[in-house]
Amino acid sequence: MLDVNDAVVRYGAITALHGISFNVQQGEIVTLLGANGAGKSTTLRMLSGLHAPASGQILFEGQDVTHTKAHDFSQLGISHVPEGRRIFPQMSVEENLEMGAFNRRGSTSDDRDKMYVTFPILKERRKQLGSNLSGGEQQMLAIARALMARPRLLLLDEPSMGLAPMIVEMIFGIIGEIRDAGTTVLVVEQNASQALRLADRGYVMENGRIVFGDLAKNLLHDERVRAVYLGESVES
Ligand SMILES: Nc1ncnc2c1ncn2[C@@H]1O[C@H](COP(=O)(O)OP(=O)(O)O)[C@@H](O)[C@H]1O
Ligand SMILES: [Mg+2]
Repeated sequence: MLDVNDAVVRYGAITALHGISFNVQQGEIVTLLGANGAGKSTTLRMLSGLHAPASGQILFEGQDVTHTKAHDFSQLGISHVPEGRRIFPQMSVEENLEMGAFNRRGSTSDDRDKMYVTFPILKERRKQLGSNLSGGEQQMLAIARALMARPRLLLLDEPSMGLAPMIVEMIFGIIGEIRDAGTTVLVVEQNASQALRLADRGYVMENGRIVFGDLAKNLLHDERVRAVYLGESVES
């Protein structure tokens, strides 16, 4: 579904991605793991058109999207839930959901109702402002808003960030349901143990490079992952 080939991304003189290659197959949950600064968010921003690669290629469903602009990406079928959620604080839950469907014509109320089935708490809070939601509710709203665009590929940037373990468990459960309902997922995480228990496959990033990748169940038992990432995720 998605093929990234030797992609280089620079911020001015700084090279954030030094030629990364990886792929995501339709129906999978794939996770990108790595410490702070490894290049995970840059990778997702590249995949939503916010930072075009200086070189390399991105193929989505066989189409070359390397130089597609951000506002065209949601039309392609890719939605991005950015780091820190970025919901609209001064809009209600319902209005935030509507914003997610900006690229679509016609009625969106069926989609909204579907989101309220997946996320019942958002239905209860539908008239409340985004700023009045808890962190977990904001994360759910950010995910639901992204789903309103009916993506085939959902990009999630650290959905567990700052959330209590019970809430993380719940959100990861929902990510599994989203995949089961037919949306492919690429999820970036520092919380390696949670992410690997959810994902089919994973890649490990260090300093702007993908250092290895494998089936998630193999990575969970990989000494390198256990030493660095599982240890780290317990502390953080
Ligand atoms: N807007 C930016 N300008 C300059 N450097 C940046 C910018 N955003 C990220 N970087 C640098 O790019 C590298 C990768 O960052 P990022 O993709 O945010 O990592 P991660 O999400 O894995 O924590 C880091 O060294 C970071 O300092
Ligand atoms: Mg990041």
